[in-house]
Amino acid sequence: MNETAPWPAHGGQADALLARYGLPADHPLVDFSANLNPLGPPAWVPARLAELAAGLARYPAPDYAEARAAIARREGVGVDQVLLTNGGAEAIFLVAAASAGRRAAIVQPTFTEYARACRACGLAVDAISLAPPDFALDPERVAAQLGGCGLLFLCRPNNPTGTLVPREAVERLLALTEPLGCRVVIDEAFIDFVVEGDERLTPLLGRFPHLLLLRSLTKCYTLPGLRLGYLLADSQTVRRVGAHQPPWSVNHLAAELVAPLLDDGEFMARMRTWLLEERPRLALGLARRGLRVVPSRANFFLVRPALGPERLTGQSPRHTMPEPRAGRRGGHLPGMANVAPMEGFTAPPRRPVDGSTRVTGPAAMALVSTDALFERLLRCGILVRHTHNFAGLDGGWLRLALRDRADNDRLLAALSKEGEA
Ligand SMILES: Cc1ncc(COP(=O)(O)O)c(C=O)c1O
Repeated sequence: MNETAPWPAHGGQADALLARYGLPADHPLVDFSANLNPLGPPAWVPARLAELAAGLARYPAPDYAEARAAIARREGVGVDQVLLTNGGAEAIFLVAAASAGRRAAIVQPTFTEYARACRACGLAVDAISLAPPDFALDPERVAAQLGGCGLLFLCRPNNPTGTLVPREAVERLLALTEPLGCRVVIDEAFIDFVVEGDERLTPLLGRFPHLLLLRSLTKCYTLPGLRLGYLLADSQTVRRVGAHQPPWSVNHLAAELVAPLLDDGEFMARMRTWLLEERPRLALGLARRGLRVVPSRANFFLVRPALGPERLTGQSPRHTMPEPRAGRRGGHLPGMANVAPMEGFTAPPRRPVDGSTRVTGPAAMALVSTDALFERLLRCGILVRHTHNFAGLDGGWLRLALRDRADNDRLLAALSKEGEA
């Protein structure tokens, strides 16, 4: 194994991880590391793309009027409140570019591209850390920590925790930040996976002109290779942010798919059924196999081996964002690399690990370090997402995407084997 190889920055980067662990490039893997809907893309997409190929010889209309009108209709906002983007990722970078000269704050642990975008655009970045086990957000505390920040990033539901800041807390935060002149960017890339109740914050746009909402169509329609996202805000903000977008940033194929994707109610209904069945089933299965599972409102889970009630390390909230560290390993205790502290839970019994006593089931899982679990799953053909580049998690957790029933059962079977190892 090459311990000095950097951990890849995102999920779905199997090649880099196989090389890191000295496994062949054709090692069979089921990918739980990228948070994509396993039911997609919708079945009609390839045929529609083939038809659309005829338009590749022309530039797309630069204002994407039809796609934006479809989004505006669906969201109940004006067309001039919609900016179509090349994935949610482009929207993040455009917002950072349009905020040059401001100081940014990011609610952590979260998607690493907010910090990268801010740095690329010369913005200083502060972190506002939320603590496990529930990663709860206190609006007054966040507002008090903003200092002179003119831009705040919040992800809802949050990647990688899966937690959803309650709407009342968001409203309170918006009320507190408005007089501070701080733009609040709420990334709702995973909001379509929140299927219990309507949690979209679109109605708040009318009340809070400093609110910007980011959305992605690549997650729930499984089109990360095509790239589609959008930003919603008041029309003046949309114009300011859009001024930083290169012309024809969204390609013709992607732009033409927006309206039919949003019209595909049958696909969304199937996705809801899958989520409502598989999410609670997988959560229970993971917990039964000795993993600590953060309750999730999204299509992924943040987990860690439940280690015991004792505080193994002292982790203090960070107030300044660390630069990303390549190839870093944890290692707070001998044989227990990157175990994160956890308070307030009852752990399975600890047993001596001296080679003479065979420990099985959840108790055995409790003794496994996060990196060891990652590696053993990889060797079993299960790729999960490490958390070495999420500030505040520092590799002590793993993120697992929800997949279809057969794949989820494979994961649970691999974890059962792991508990008996
Ligand atoms: C929270 C969050 N926002 C935005 C994105 C970017 O999504 P897209 O593929 O639409 O660019 C991701 C991708 O992982 C994400 O996790």
